[in-house]
Amino acid sequence: MAKIIDGREISRKTRESIKERTAGFIEKYGRAPGLAVVIAGDDPASQIYVRNKSKACEEVGFGSEVIRLPAEVSEAELLSVIEKLKIDEKTDGILVQLPLPRGLNPKVIIDAIPPEKDVDAFHVSNVGKIMLGEKCFLPCTPAGIMKMLEVEGISVDGKECVVVGRSNIVGKPMAMLLLQANGTVTVCHSHTANLKDITSRADILVAAVGKSKFITEDMVKEGAVVIDVGMNRDENGKLTGDVDFEAVEKKASAITPVPGGVGPMTITMLLENTLFAAELSVNNN
Ligand code: GUN
Repeated sequence: MAKIIDGREISRKTRESIKERTAGFIEKYGRAPGLAVVIAGDDPASQIYVRNKSKACEEVGFGSEVIRLPAEVSEAELLSVIEKLKIDEKTDGILVQLPLPRGLNPKVIIDAIPPEKDVDAFHVSNVGKIMLGEKCFLPCTPAGIMKMLEVEGISVDGKECVVVGRSNIVGKPMAMLLLQANGTVTVCHSHTANLKDITSRADILVAAVGKSKFITEDMVKEGAVVIDVGMNRDENGKLTGDVDFEAVEKKASAITPVPGGVGPMTITMLLENTLFAAELSVNNN
């Protein structure tokens, strides 16, 4: 039976440390780190994510502001909101919740966020830095996964790492972070031939596909570490991952559950990035 990697517990401990560092920041600089979250439209999943992000900010002592815009907001209006946040001294981090309503180009919007306030690490300049291994914000979900591996004492060095999924938010940056940790990394996607042959080689398997129970027991090597990034709803509305947990758990050496695995870590790393942005801001002013 696999060790269940408890993302809630790792998050709780990490957030405790962020809370203490935040108290120190407030004492030293007389203000709290601040995150502004911009949400356009009323996508129900996005509403929940945004609520959880602002609650997490309050719990560690950050200032948080949620700017709600209608789905019909124009690109110019959204850009002007970002322009105001750009010069707002109490806003250290700016996050525009994705997906944006149809008609808005996420690339234009994300690249309008100043890189030093881009706590999602989605701006082209931060993506370039991640590629080069330069110090910058780390994308929240992949960074959360690296943190879980570190806390669990799972070394990536020299390991066969397989990432299933090539999104800009998870798959691609995940591959970069594993590579920087000296893993031998393969990225698989919907056009990959012989997927099972490749996933079966993995010492560390990261599933970020967006399909319920896509990774079955026959695709996993005995003793592998399995990280499930999936957040899917099954036919009964139940939250499920990308991994067939019940079957894979018997074969893996460690596995993240859904819920309670990667999900809580994503918001925790957003808090880390916001505190880092605040530290950057006070050191540059
Ligand atoms: N939508 C789903 N995940 C994310 C995320 O990590 N950041 C933003 N901005 N939007 C998202």
